[in-house]
Amino acid sequence: MDLLNNIKAFLQYYLGAKTYYNLHSPRIYEFITNTLEDDRSYYAFDKIEEIRTHLLQDNTSLQILDLGAGSKTSKEKTRTIKEIASSALSPSYQCKLLFRIVQYLKPRHILELGTSLGISTMYLAEGNTKAKLTSIEGSQAIADIALRNFSYLKQTQIKLKVGNFDEILPNILPQIENLDLVYIDGNHQYEPTIKYFEMILPYLNENSLVIFDDIYWSKEMSQAWQEIKASNSVSQTIDLYFFGLVMFKQDFKEKQDHKITYSTLKPWQKYIPS
Ligand SMILES: C[S@@+](CC[C@H](N)C(=O)[O-])C[C@H]1O[C@@H](n2cnc3c(N)ncnc32)[C@H](O)[C@@H]1O
Repeated sequence: MDLLNNIKAFLQYYLGAKTYYNLHSPRIYEFITNTLEDDRSYYAFDKIEEIRTHLLQDNTSLQILDLGAGSKTSKEKTRTIKEIASSALSPSYQCKLLFRIVQYLKPRHILELGTSLGISTMYLAEGNTKAKLTSIEGSQAIADIALRNFSYLKQTQIKLKVGNFDEILPNILPQIENLDLVYIDGNHQYEPTIKYFEMILPYLNENSLVIFDDIYWSKEMSQAWQEIKASNSVSQTIDLYFFGLVMFKQDFKEKQDHKITYSTLKPWQKYIPS
């Protein structure tokens, strides 16, 4: 994480952000009202947060393979489950937003890059139990814990693929029909982020939504986010600071980037443990 870049990006976001009342697009307004501005709680949230609490107390050591942005020094590392749970997982307010997005959009097939221990995956799955969900994780030891969690919640619709995104994506993308939602939460570096975006683009439809996690995590990620927004295929983007949402429906003359602030979630919660 690049703290200076983070602070600068947050100030830019915050000073430029508007509430959803100022939106001119009825489609985006509806989307925000039904996702960001929805503060209902669900039984599923409690079940998944209970699992997170157990993971946060689990001292079991795992031998993990780090294929992501933290892999510059050594790829093999030993980490306890509680260390992974406290550093790598999306906080509950972000996961609840993922659930609401799935609940509202009802995607037919969801693809997640970066399963980790399965917390965000379980929220995505609970949002619409009829959706097919494919999630990819590079580390077998971490994936095994995620699988244990999915089976505890009896989430049989999740297909977990273990391996490097770069190798798995070309094999699975042609087999996925109706790729309506993609959540990219792994390998937060410039080149891989652009590469994964370009790899999935041909498989999306005009109603698909792609969510990028940690768009301002580093200068590299900020740069990747700027380029993704500028892509010809992109019509609208929603910048929530912690997530960047990308839409493709060409129903506007001009590309639009909405920096949104909202009442139920506060972006600075990112820096407060959930
Ligand atoms: C931030 S964590 C995902 C957290 C999870 N989505 C959640 O919120 O519960 C990112 C995960 O992506 C995996 N990863 C990173 N780069 C990868 C790559 N190139 N191929 C496969 N997995 C990768 C890491 O092993 C790590 O478990």
